[in-house]
Amino acid sequence: MKGVILAGGSGTRLQPVTLATNKHLFPVYDKPVIYYAIEKLFAAGIDKIMIVTSGEHIGDFVKLLGSGQHFKRPQGGQVQIVYAIQNEPNGVAYGLYIAKEYVGTEDCALFLGDNIFEDEIESHIKSFSGGARVFLKKVPDPERFGVATVDSSGKVTAIEEKPMKPASDLAVTGLYLYDATVFDKMLDQQKSARGEYEITYLNNKYIAEGTLDAVMLEKEWFDVGTFDSLLDAGEYMRTKKRKSKQ
Ligand code: TTP
Repeated sequence: MKGVILAGGSGTRLQPVTLATNKHLFPVYDKPVIYYAIEKLFAAGIDKIMIVTSGEHIGDFVKLLGSGQHFKRPQGGQVQIVYAIQNEPNGVAYGLYIAKEYVGTEDCALFLGDNIFEDEIESHIKSFSGGARVFLKKVPDPERFGVATVDSSGKVTAIEEKPMKPASDLAVTGLYLYDATVFDKMLDQQKSARGEYEITYLNNKYIAEGTLDAVMLEKEWFDVGTFDSLLDAGEYMRTKKRKSKQ
């Protein structure tokens, strides 16, 4: 399985800091935001990762990450990072589309680079056998996210992007597993009312096909797109590190 980390976007909620730099380079306690995504995928056995970001910031990512030499396995081997440019922040689905040739006929793990997961994901990646898999988390403010409607058997029957009246408190988090048919599902996609190629559109196509399943996350999850969540994630990581030293 290939990994695709999206590290573009506008970062409007983190202005003015993002007028000069990219939020995935900010520190969360002692590491840049994007380190958490790379480490999570690497720990789950994914060695080949494409980072998609803007042309404006790609040089900073290359400086920070190189070919992946900072991420090594004790038994040898490192992450192999390659880069691609998303010219405009026109949506998460478009960011994935840029990785089409890189992913080829393999499955892929799409990771929004501003997400931090504490749950292990390896077992869910190893057991993935086609279709799509999303990762849900109970949140107090679902209207900020894609929100899943789940039936009594735990099956996702619909996902709505940033709804005014959420059907549940289950946010669709920024990790998605797809088979290679995801790229065919983009062919007739149009921009949404807010001008983006939405990932929710693709997830709903898998739901219509009956091939999307969902994993419920139990541990901490952060989407560090706001100053508050960035600070919360930093404090959480500081406490975790201090506890591990005791
Ligand atoms: P968002 O946080 O939804 O959007 P944003 O980064 O533009 O921020 P804001 O809403 O404050 O303006 O993006 C989620 C993740 O996806 C984040 O890691 C950035 C990434 N992304 C891209 O790489 N390309 C895109 O076109 C978009 C919209 C997001």
